[in-house]
Amino acid sequence: RIIHLADYRQTDFVLERVDLTFELDPTETKVEARLIFHRREGADPSAPLVLDGDELVMTSLLFDQMEMDKARYDATPESLTIRDLPASEPFEITVTTMINPEANTQLMGLYRANGVYCTQCEAEGFRRITYFPDRPDVLAVYTVNIIADKASCPLLLSNGNFLGGAGYGEGKHFAAWFDPHPKPSYLFALVAGDLGVVEDTFTTMSGREVALKIYVEHGKEPRAAYAMDALKRSMKWDEEVFGREYDLDIFMIVAVSDFNMGAMENKGLNVFNDKYVLADPEIATDQDYANIEAIIAHEYFHNWTGNRVTCRDWFQLCLKEGLTVYRDHEFSADQRSRAVKRIAEVRHLKSEQFPEDAGPLAHPVRPTKYREINNFYTTTVYEKGSEVTRMIATILGKDGFKKGMDLYFERHDGDAATIEDFVKCFEDANGVDLSQFSLWYNQAGTPLVSVSSAYDQGKGEFTLSLEQMIPPTPGQSVKEPMHIPLRFGLLLTDGSEANPTAVSGADVTGDVLHLTERRQTVTFSGIASRPVVSLNRGFSAPVNLHFEQAAADLAHIARHDGDLFARWQALNDLALPTLVDAARKARAGEPVETSDVLADTLIAIAADESLEPAFRAQALALPSESDIARELGSNNDPDAIRTGREAVLAFVANRDPAVFAALFAGHRTEGAFTPDASGAGHRALRNAALAYLAVSDGTPARAAEAFASADNMTDLSAALTVLAHRFPDAPETAKALEAFRARFADNALVIDKWFSIQSTIPGDGALERVKALMESPLFNKANPNRVRALVGTFAFSNPTGFNRADGAGYRFLADQILEIDPKNPQLAARILTSMRSWRALEEVRSDHARNALRAIAAGEKLSSDVSDIVERMLKA
Ligand code: ARG
Ligand code: ZN
Repeated sequence: RIIHLADYRQTDFVLERVDLTFELDPTETKVEARLIFHRREGADPSAPLVLDGDELVMTSLLFDQMEMDKARYDATPESLTIRDLPASEPFEITVTTMINPEANTQLMGLYRANGVYCTQCEAEGFRRITYFPDRPDVLAVYTVNIIADKASCPLLLSNGNFLGGAGYGEGKHFAAWFDPHPKPSYLFALVAGDLGVVEDTFTTMSGREVALKIYVEHGKEPRAAYAMDALKRSMKWDEEVFGREYDLDIFMIVAVSDFNMGAMENKGLNVFNDKYVLADPEIATDQDYANIEAIIAHEYFHNWTGNRVTCRDWFQLCLKEGLTVYRDHEFSADQRSRAVKRIAEVRHLKSEQFPEDAGPLAHPVRPTKYREINNFYTTTVYEKGSEVTRMIATILGKDGFKKGMDLYFERHDGDAATIEDFVKCFEDANGVDLSQFSLWYNQAGTPLVSVSSAYDQGKGEFTLSLEQMIPPTPGQSVKEPMHIPLRFGLLLTDGSEANPTAVSGADVTGDVLHLTERRQTVTFSGIASRPVVSLNRGFSAPVNLHFEQAAADLAHIARHDGDLFARWQALNDLALPTLVDAARKARAGEPVETSDVLADTLIAIAADESLEPAFRAQALALPSESDIARELGSNNDPDAIRTGREAVLAFVANRDPAVFAALFAGHRTEGAFTPDASGAGHRALRNAALAYLAVSDGTPARAAEAFASADNMTDLSAALTVLAHRFPDAPETAKALEAFRARFADNALVIDKWFSIQSTIPGDGALERVKALMESPLFNKANPNRVRALVGTFAFSNPTGFNRADGAGYRFLADQILEIDPKNPQLAARILTSMRSWRALEEVRSDHARNALRAIAAGEKLSSDVSDIVERMLKA
């Protein structure tokens, strides 16, 4: 069944109150839900009340406390329909359902894993707990009573503020929670079990003290310290930057080891994948710390963007996700180096969202139809959604954006809102018309902006000709021109910037050029010498630029732009054509041509001690194999791409090994580990140098030494990666892998790194390696993190290994998907999206890929999650 945005209508009944009582039991949990409704004014007086369910078993149904007449309702596992309800006065429905948390391997609704009861209700998991109007525009106030065994569940948590608790018969106890803020069912949460806690407090800007609690497995409390610190910084930042204060007496986070996603923003009770909470220098890399900081912030920020203002329907998902990602990006930028953070964001956007937008799964930031909403928690909704929000800020400026956000909170607090509501706030607050801009929400596909330039010395005029094209995407063949805000600068040879006396042909406000038509020619007057254009600075618009700039011009930007991000981008633009050409040559069996300008520019930047180390590390990372594949666009051979890239990389590595050796020696961090951005930058640069040195050395000795002497997980895992990826068959590698395994065998999160490093060893042997690792006693196919670390990483991040020419990688994935799907459809569907670019492969591989997809499509009793993905991928 397909759901359409155009079919949205309000419910016939208004839900006033929800009282839930859980009697927790591993296999027979009793859920009693008392729901008070009244018919909406103006609604059809004969309309029945239809509640959603999913695999539910009802054991009793009361109407105003009396047993309900059987003739008045129909109950199936999927719905409960009740007829002959009052025309206007409130009435009470009490439904009792029995659920089995232990058997809930989908990890949606209420489940029990590792002895802990926990819930995940977004998007449609609440209907697996009780019959309910399970949609985000039904907001109500909840009271929750939890009864459970005292010994195994000393901790009983739910949303809101704690009301009280007491003993409850033999060996049991109960706790009651009340959440005064009306909320949709997807924000409901319950956690019960035996966990350790880290406690702190935060005093809000109005002087209220909020209790902060992070619950983790006993013994792991010290590893929650960084998450707590990140939480307090997030709370402070949201007050300072967005004026948003926390609104309950307590804020809780629970870390669980079996979780389908990163984390969930349930009101007052966030539930996290423990991977995004637990850290200490011994087990966590700098990247892990950065992820924890970002995700703690993200979920906390949802309290206003998502919870206080929620979504009218799931088509509006980007209303909360795109906006909240934008907020967490800005937070991290303020906590760390803004330019380096932006580079990481753009790398991620290009490697994840651009391929999605260019393939069979492309969809608008705000889709208009879906079959399975779980499949729309995508990088397009999240990351492109964030970029769209960022463009609003770029167009309106900092103050204009702030005015719009203030109006949004003022106007929509307590509402279930839409994208139109959101955009209208920026329009009204600034007196502007954003209707053309709104196409960003509706048109899928990454715009291509083609640019050419000309300079007329005699007239002192510089001209830019721009043309935008939005490629066709599934269901959208014709597109309208969009409003594309391009930040730019005109660099002069001495490194300064030209200041034109006049501009014609486009609106230019400050340093932003507004491209709004299909074709525009922009003329800058009063330019005394030929400038070099630095275009799309800060990646102000998520577009592909097609601009044949001379290598010397790009090198000039890379070395002299005042904007660090632009320097990185120029380096990237300089590297990509060389890598693409290398891949083509490798494919044709011709010798690969390398580039002196590229190598020298890279090395000059790497060696420039006036630049921050984290930036230099980013500069040294050549565009990835998947970046090259995307640039090539079609008929891709991952082996040739790798061969070509390796040749360019070896050329850079051998150009001046002394520079890399100096970086490696000079950026060792001394003393106690601190996870701050500066320490992380030194480690990143040092490890980038090590990766080049492994190539010029041609032996594993240096990496083996780095492995042996590492005193933190960042350096340890970086050295192990170099060993495994560069010298997979060396005895040093075998020894290091075994040492790592033995040391961390009891820490599943670290063992996930061990799995991932090995599953990404390039080449034909990868599949056999992955299969062997699946037999390891450390692997557990019931745990989503383990499956993602091994199977997911192989499919997403090992282009040559996964895309083996004989198709064995695809057949393996198909088998895995069919095996995982009956137990955990969301996990299966997510991993399957690793094949989203299959159509861009050369013929032999794409034939194999199609066959594997067809084998999945032919599977029996496929979930809607997997069948939706596989069908969209196979559709022409
Ligand atoms: N709202 C959560 C977050 O972004 C993610 C929920 C994902 N849900 C899903 N069905 N995939 O913070
Ligand atoms: Zn989110």
